[in-house]
Amino acid sequence: MLALLALVACDTPTPDGDSGNPASTADVVWYGDVEPIVEQSCTGCHVEGGVGGFALDSYASAAPMAAAMAASVQSRRMPPWKAEPGCTDYRDDISLTDEEIARLAAWAEEGAAEGDSGASIHAPPPVASLSRVDETLTLPLPYTPTATPDDYRCFLVDWPVDHTTHVTGYLVHPGAPSIVHHLVAYIAEPDQVAEYEAKDAEDETPGWGCFGGPGVGNQEDASWLGAWAPGATNGDFPNGAGIRMKPGSKVVLQMHYNLAQGDIVPDQTTMDIRYDDDVEAPAYIQPWADPAWLDGSGMNIPAGAEGKEHSFSYTLNFGIDVTIHTANLHMHKLGRTGNLTLEHSDGSDDCLLDIQDWDFNWQRTYVFEEPKTIFDGDTVTVTCTWDNPGEEDVNWGEGTGDEMCLGTMLFSY
Ligand code: HEC
Repeated sequence: MLALLALVACDTPTPDGDSGNPASTADVVWYGDVEPIVEQSCTGCHVEGGVGGFALDSYASAAPMAAAMAASVQSRRMPPWKAEPGCTDYRDDISLTDEEIARLAAWAEEGAAEGDSGASIHAPPPVASLSRVDETLTLPLPYTPTATPDDYRCFLVDWPVDHTTHVTGYLVHPGAPSIVHHLVAYIAEPDQVAEYEAKDAEDETPGWGCFGGPGVGNQEDASWLGAWAPGATNGDFPNGAGIRMKPGSKVVLQMHYNLAQGDIVPDQTTMDIRYDDDVEAPAYIQPWADPAWLDGSGMNIPAGAEGKEHSFSYTLNFGIDVTIHTANLHMHKLGRTGNLTLEHSDGSDDCLLDIQDWDFNWQRTYVFEEPKTIFDGDTVTVTCTWDNPGEEDVNWGEGTGDEMCLGTMLFSY
């Protein structure tokens, strides 16, 4: 990749070559045409010190990268938004339309012209907003990752509220944005805290290595408080939803550091929390997976398999309707496609999330533009497919070489 970028960089015009620059003849120019696309979909990550590794936040920084930018959007590697269009509408959608991709490509092809800065149109990336910060959870120390290229580490932090309350929003501030690839916050219920403390005490270094879950007990059952990945815009939960927290709980912050791009620096990520004692919609993050998969060989992905599929459907029959606010899919590194669908009892379907190009590095919680309802008697199905180029069968498990197929949704009722 670096070789490609270097090549491309030699090949493109210098940003300030104005007289020879075909700005006046080019149909597509930076100001007014390309800048708004890049601001909306790229500069959430491509700023100095950001996870994108290089900045694209000005004509001077973007023009030398024009050809690489065009290639990355045409192949749909960038921006890393994996939800297929046409499934449903999400908030803060940074994906590009075919027209926007064509516009960026034309700009690169025509020589990455600057145009007139007076024609600038700004479309800043979606920003997270938390209306109030009531508490801040902090990693117990600045942690310098050691395992390369990926270090997965769980830290146990105190839950500071002394009465039952509800988390109604959060905002994650990665301490070292260039290496923090994702965070999942799990709830350690009061009766689970001792087991987590024992795990934490196993070695001198704070925290413990963990992958795919908090690494203690029956991890699939671990309750989620929230998740963050680069570009995610967390903030206040939608529609008055709140996740209950009991006094005496703790929070497990699972960090995934990727050291392939950035310098290895210490990280001390923080998570701002808003909470309310009373909420309109008591909510919880509901995992969706076949209990039989967790049973040793229940989700077998045979050696050499291509596109092996497992699917699980469950019909809700509790005499209540449930509101769903978000959808998320989780597989490990062999995952290829995944989707979550809702089938109403009248036979109509609702697509919740469809991913055709799974990438472990780009997991995201997709927030529905409009919340959806699971009516009593409706069925939710999670489906995943995998390729297994290895010589051994793979099954459900928490290791990097194991797999999962887990949907999660924010439910309230
Ligand atoms: C959510 C964060 C994020 C956003 C948004 C994002 N990028 Fe990236 N980009 C990255 C990261 C991280 C890398 C390096 C690792 C990789 O390739 O996955 C990268 C790599 C690249 C590369 C070099 C490698 C390649 O795949 O070609 C280009 C070019 C690029 N981005 C362009 C863009 C453009 C153009 C946009 C907007 C349309 C964009 N990126 C949006 C995070 C992001």
